[in-house]
Amino acid sequence: MAPQKMYTETGDAREWCLITGASSGLGAEFIKLAAPLYHLVLVARRTDRMEALAANLFTEYGCMCIIITKDLAEEAAGTALVAELTEFQTANTEFHMPTILVNNAGFGYIGKFHEQDWARNRNMIMVNVTVCCELAALLIPNMVEKGFGRVLNVASIASYMAGPNQSIYFASKAFLRSWSEATWMELQGTGVTTTALCPGPVSTEWAAEAGIGSDGDMMKKADTPEFIARLGWTGMLAGKRVAMTRKTATQIKAFACLPKKLVLKKTMQLQEPKPEPTAE
Ligand SMILES: NC(=O)c1ccc[n+]([C@@H]2O[C@H](COP(=O)([O-])OP(=O)(O)OC[C@H]3O[C@@H](n4cnc5c(N)ncnc54)[C@H](OP(=O)(O)O)[C@@H]3O)[C@@H](O)[C@H]2O)c1
Repeated sequence: MAPQKMYTETGDAREWCLITGASSGLGAEFIKLAAPLYHLVLVARRTDRMEALAANLFTEYGCMCIIITKDLAEEAAGTALVAELTEFQTANTEFHMPTILVNNAGFGYIGKFHEQDWARNRNMIMVNVTVCCELAALLIPNMVEKGFGRVLNVASIASYMAGPNQSIYFASKAFLRSWSEATWMELQGTGVTTTALCPGPVSTEWAAEAGIGSDGDMMKKADTPEFIARLGWTGMLAGKRVAMTRKTATQIKAFACLPKKLVLKKTMQLQEPKPEPTAE
């Protein structure tokens, strides 16, 4: 049975979809894609942004929405989040543990590893890697028991190479993709799939947050968040192992043919710190 049909067929008894990083960029687009089909749990730190994004979902789609303000860099944030949902479930029978998990929250951090603030890199590992695995560890067993579920892990083209000037970010995405592909294989036959979305540059707040400059060379040919979120979302519903654009697939193949040192040098140049232009 096609996954899309399987989920929409549930009608009023919609499944719940948990989206992390649901306050901007790709997260905001995942909300639009999920709302017509599922009830939502939105997680990020900026509550006002999530409230604005969720404002009309019930009237437009009959979509119930739980907003959870949480810093996913905190120790055991995923465990605390699932504990909050479990408590919520005891008083709200219409809520069920999410069978769709979108591990989207993440951020980058430009700079040479030995000059960087370790606390920020540590937080990045927590958000980009640890909490993704933690949420999956807590939610997938229930999905397997139910016989269906979908997990989307937002990795990156960065997962296919080492990234001088942003070494921990690239390594975090390599971890996420490797783990996601392995669980995709392990889960064969269960009705549950894990999909790694591997975008190239996307025009969101990510570049400015990372310190790479949203108008820098790397971001000039960025894809739109609408396009990339749809690619990931449809790939996830279809149970694909990896979702990426043709352009990204071609680039990955080309990198593999080039001398490693050249790729490292070019990657380092693209990850040069570029401050955002100040408004005059
Ligand atoms: N944009 C790109 O070029 C690109 C390319 C490849 C992959 N990606 C990946 O795509 C994903 C989404 O990023 P985006 O491009 O949409 O950038 P974005 O607009 O900056 O969104 C990042 C999201 O992550 C959340 N987040 C960051 N730190 C968090 C924390 N400590 N706790 C909870 N939530 C946190 C942010 O929410 P709050 O700030 O409200 O907490 C925000 O909703 C990330 O995993 C990113 O690595 C992006």
